[in-house]
Amino acid sequence: MHFSLVSLFPEFFSSPMQQGLMGRAIEAGLVSYAVHNPRDFSTDKHNKVDDRPYGGGPGMVMLPQPLADVLLHLGHPVREAGAPRLLPNPARPLVHPSPKGKPLTQALARKLTAAKDITLVCGRYEGIDARIEELFAVECVSVGDFVLNGGEAAALCFMESVARLVPGYMGDEESGTEESFSSGLLEYPHYTKPAEFYGLAVPEVLRGGDHGKVARWRRERAMETTLAVRPDIMGEAPLGAEDYAFLQEKPLQRIGKNLFCALVHYPVLDKWKNSVAVSLTNLDIHDISRSSCTFGLGGYYVVTPIQDQQRLLESLLRHWHEGAGKQSNPHRDEALSLVKGVASLEEAIQDITCQCGAAPLVVGSSARAEAESQKAIDFLGVREVLEERPVLLLLGTGHGLAPEACGLCEKFLPPLRWHGRYNHLSVRAAAAIMMDRILGDWC
Ligand code: ADE
Repeated sequence: MHFSLVSLFPEFFSSPMQQGLMGRAIEAGLVSYAVHNPRDFSTDKHNKVDDRPYGGGPGMVMLPQPLADVLLHLGHPVREAGAPRLLPNPARPLVHPSPKGKPLTQALARKLTAAKDITLVCGRYEGIDARIEELFAVECVSVGDFVLNGGEAAALCFMESVARLVPGYMGDEESGTEESFSSGLLEYPHYTKPAEFYGLAVPEVLRGGDHGKVARWRRERAMETTLAVRPDIMGEAPLGAEDYAFLQEKPLQRIGKNLFCALVHYPVLDKWKNSVAVSLTNLDIHDISRSSCTFGLGGYYVVTPIQDQQRLLESLLRHWHEGAGKQSNPHRDEALSLVKGVASLEEAIQDITCQCGAAPLVVGSSARAEAESQKAIDFLGVREVLEERPVLLLLGTGHGLAPEACGLCEKFLPPLRWHGRYNHLSVRAAAAIMMDRILGDWC
């Protein structure tokens, strides 16, 4: 496998490419690389490679001419005027490491091992002139959600992740398939001699010589680590019946216990934007309690100051807690036990504060985008808050939360669907989607 590196800093690669397995693979002829400096291709009399950005702003942008000429020199086809965009060539990919690219994953690294020659265009300064991406079949790849000084360090990560999967690179071929991400899970812990270190013994099972038991132990540890550190990738790992049986027994972190929701019937907006009180809806009480129970929420408040509505709620709950409903459907009793009728949002906030020993972060939701962007929080952001304190999610009935209710919100979630023409989810459907986006399958 050959890497053609386009970089203003050729020396950047000398030492890392000589070390360890990469150095050996290069010596053995399995991997090779060459650096092509765009400065050598500049037609400017001072060998200029960058200039100020059109439209103003800080920093410099890499000029298109030296980059285009390197790529032509390397034999990459250029798009003719008016022709459709060029498709990437799997045998000769042209990659631009960039934070705006698709993520570099193990699956992508594996796919790229089919290539013979990979060109990596390393940007510096503010980036490269956008026309390079239009003229050549460039694929942008990011090594993580952070910004580096340039593409060189990212190119090193990229080359190592791909080259180490080339047959012969690692010697022990199995180590390439047993690592984190290959199984969709993070890696299990490794131990070596001595059998005891600072009073910590190597787990007995690893010393017993039973390969089946070792494999099972490792898989279980990998599942535990993934669940604790990257619950977001848990759903993508291929799991078998034995894995699910193991996971079901695990006490989850249950951060969902810190999430509360309130279905607000007052103060909400009517069609004409007046603050009004609306009636309770049987379906909303049932379905949001079922979702709350499924996602392990701490509680579900039904907010109405109207006394006959409160009495209606009480009689409904009594039917399912004590009456004929309990006999016919005990699961419903379990879900509805999360419901608490309160006269106001302040009462719900007070109740959570007593229960959790900390005031909740009050988060509003709406089908429309909130004007105040400094109050924006995304679904993952709410999940992070839940690890530290309770959150009360406000769900509006009628035509949404009235300004008095919005005034209590410190944060607002974005609308669930903001780009469609039709946007009229029922509040119970929206509640379930929000719970899923915040907690997912594993929290
Ligand atoms: N260049 C600068 N930051 C980068 C990143 N996160 N990934 C790939 N290339 C980059």
